Amino acid sequence: MSSPPIYLDYAATTPLDKRVLAAMLPFLQEDEGFGNASSEHYYGHQALAAQQCAAEQVATAVGVPEARVVWTSGATEANNLALLGIARFYAKRGNHIVTSAQEHASILEPCRELAKSGMRVTYLQPQADGRLSLDALANAITADTLLISLAHANSETGVVQDLQEIGAIATKKGVLLHIDAAQSAGKLELPEGLPGVALVSLSAHKNYGPKGIGALVFTSKSRVHCQPLFFGGAQQAGLRPGTFPTASIVGMGEAFALSQQLLPSEVKRMHAYCDRLRKALVSLSGVTVNGSSRHRLAHNLNLRIEGVHGDALNYATPELVFSQGAACSASQQAPSAVLQAMGLTVAQARDSIRLTIGRFTTSDDIDKTVRVLCRAIQRLRACSPC
Ligand SMILES: Cc1ncc(COP(=O)(O)O)c(C=O)c1O
Repeated sequence: MSSPPIYLDYAATTPLDKRVLAAMLPFLQEDEGFGNASSEHYYGHQALAAQQCAAEQVATAVGVPEARVVWTSGATEANNLALLGIARFYAKRGNHIVTSAQEHASILEPCRELAKSGMRVTYLQPQADGRLSLDALANAITADTLLISLAHANSETGVVQDLQEIGAIATKKGVLLHIDAAQSAGKLELPEGLPGVALVSLSAHKNYGPKGIGALVFTSKSRVHCQPLFFGGAQQAGLRPGTFPTASIVGMGEAFALSQQLLPSEVKRMHAYCDRLRKALVSLSGVTVNGSSRHRLAHNLNLRIEGVHGDALNYATPELVFSQGAACSASQQAPSAVLQAMGLTVAQARDSIRLTIGRFTTSDDIDKTVRVLCRAIQRLRACSPC
């Protein structure tokens, strides 16, 4: 039997770590942990205690141990809750949101919804390297700015924004700052205490945890309020009602604790592997890295390969699994809006691929990926009419 393709799409999702699964199992089985965490009896209390522990694990892993963790179905819901919830609760305080043109759809779409009801939204354009200009951010803030909402690391390019400086601007201007850390949490050290940040969106499945669970973390002890998106229960103080998925919550806690513990060694390994990939591929003519080489997630390599369509390269390499951009917009078949926002032409965006490696990538995988990609790129170029 032929071996399965090498997985190079860790930014889309990660496999569940076996250690995470082991932590979850007692809360799925006929054990002590299956209870409804809202029930006032022994089984409910067992589940609730495990969830509290998971909330501490998540909050500690992102550097804000005192934070309030609101469980959601993932980062999409957390982003929606942050944007719609804040905008609706503080409607009288401000009528302006600052975000960027390269955000994930779960930030851009709620912004578009809010704009329909009169919210003014400023979409900052990234610079050519994918980083945002801090001056442009500061200048975009006006007296009616309520919220800044930005991803820490971009899901397609892996480019990391200067969270410390963005937090300082938000503090100086007295504006709430929401950070989408779906791609960065567990992958790089976050600034201790997340200064200036009011809300953080997280996802478990980007971090070797289960799918269908995430969180909106309220970092400060002084309360920031949010209007709920759903109604019909008193769980999570009514902010996000519904019976708790205890096993998933426990899994997310374990996944984040594990990532925190493994972070230094994993970052080192990802750097070394990605460097090998990058050096081998850019040694071919017309291959360049999209986005900042310095400020990027260690496991992400977004490459532009002149004259080779990303989808053609994908079809030509069944031994590998990689993507051209975010999985949730893959079905739209459009060239990456993120790369175009950075100034790439449609053709250049089409000639780009995203390789993302992770915890279970081996050194042999890297060698094989280099061999397969180099051969396929040369073959496709040889067949190209121009
Ligand atoms: C930056 C970013 N935000 C949000 C999301 C959505 O996360 P989830 O799948 O947990 O809803 C993703 C997923 O690709 C992402 O990359």
